Amino acid sequence: MAGNNTSLQGKFGIIIGGSGLVGGAIVHYFKKKWGCEILAPNSKQLSIRDSEDIRGFFQELRPDFIINSAIAAIDSNPKISFEINYLGTINIAKVAAALGIPYIFFSSAAVLPEGENLTEENHRPLRPAMSNYAKSKLMSELTLEHLRKTEGLDHTVVRLAIVYGKHDHKIQGFHRLLFSVADQSMPMLFTGRNVCHSYSNAKKIPYFLRHILLNREEFSGQTFHFVDPNPVRLAQLILTIRSYLELKRPREMYLPYPVARFGANFLKKAIKQLIRLGIDARMPPELMFLKNFYETQTLSAKKLKSSSFVDSFPNESVFTQLPEVIQYYLTRWEQLNLIAAYDKEFFDPQRLSEEFLNSPETLLADIHADRVSPFSAFRTDKQ
Ligand SMILES: NC(=O)c1ccc[n+]([C@@H]2O[C@H](COP(=O)([O-])OP(=O)(O)OC[C@H]3O[C@@H](n4cnc5c(N)ncnc54)[C@H](OP(=O)(O)O)[C@@H]3O)[C@@H](O)[C@H]2O)c1
Repeated sequence: MAGNNTSLQGKFGIIIGGSGLVGGAIVHYFKKKWGCEILAPNSKQLSIRDSEDIRGFFQELRPDFIINSAIAAIDSNPKISFEINYLGTINIAKVAAALGIPYIFFSSAAVLPEGENLTEENHRPLRPAMSNYAKSKLMSELTLEHLRKTEGLDHTVVRLAIVYGKHDHKIQGFHRLLFSVADQSMPMLFTGRNVCHSYSNAKKIPYFLRHILLNREEFSGQTFHFVDPNPVRLAQLILTIRSYLELKRPREMYLPYPVARFGANFLKKAIKQLIRLGIDARMPPELMFLKNFYETQTLSAKKLKSSSFVDSFPNESVFTQLPEVIQYYLTRWEQLNLIAAYDKEFFDPQRLSEEFLNSPETLLADIHADRVSPFSAFRTDKQ
């Protein structure tokens, strides 16, 4: 792809993992907003676990780029993690190298140790004891670099931290945290007072990808942390969610890590017993990250900032997005009967539902007089 192009219009891209949180946002922007021709097979149409499937799929296709945001379930066994997260990633990289096209791969903060302001050069040493997820991500990063040197692969690794945004249909990561507060299953704070993490805004990712696809000379062969510039204190985030939901729990008490670990181990044993009795029970997969709730890990955004990419939404952060995100998920979880119904006015920032319920005439008058603006702005130009 030429370095001085300014548009992806007319380009044909393949997005693997397009039904996921990150992939879904990319498909939406690339296809609907930027007029790109996109093919986003689901895992039944193309399972990247199967190299024959990959070969068959790409036989006839000549894409201009490939984006891989597929990932096995976080608690998958070593075989599935290895085959999807590593072998699948590398087999697709080989297709991209053979076709001479850019390949964008998502990695994760899981490859990094704890610490502050970690840079793209940092990563944990590859060790057997790493989680299957972290191990497969780190191995992928290292093999992609190897393929760049040996087969001329034109790739970019985008390392994400905790991703927030709408349309996560699995309730994992950040949205699991939100869920635990909403269904009041978090009695107190499972973190330390000053523990901070980095966050990635799902909505901004497509803008970055578009930019790096149009500027291969600058971004080829590089790894970037794609994170909001300011780290977030986990306790502050949980308490802010609590206050939006007008709840009393979790209490502002910090559960020490040894106690939390003891509780998690106890739960693990209890679940084993239940399974022996034939009762279907599972550990919440996020409990494998329990230690991370007690350790600061922040990613440096310096390299991203000094690149030619310009953030179109510099003031957006997980805090500014919370009302929108909460409203989306509470509605969804209520409809799925996953949580008890919330009073809509709790998370209706303009309190319009309350007006609708109690004083529709005033609401209508306010709308017609432009005192409130509940409608979306429709534009015909594509951004
Ligand atoms: N979410 C986060 O907080 C976070 C944090 C750091 C890094 N990341 C990285 O960001 C990327 C996207 O994550 P996500 O949160 O969007 O994941 P996600 O919501 O769990 O989506 C996973 C996607 O992978 C696809 N997939 C699974 N197995 C597949 C297979 N065998 N063949 C083809 N596709 C398969 C799924 O397709 P089907 O639905 O069709 O099965 C789904 O579209 C991943 O690389 C992840 O490591 C995410």
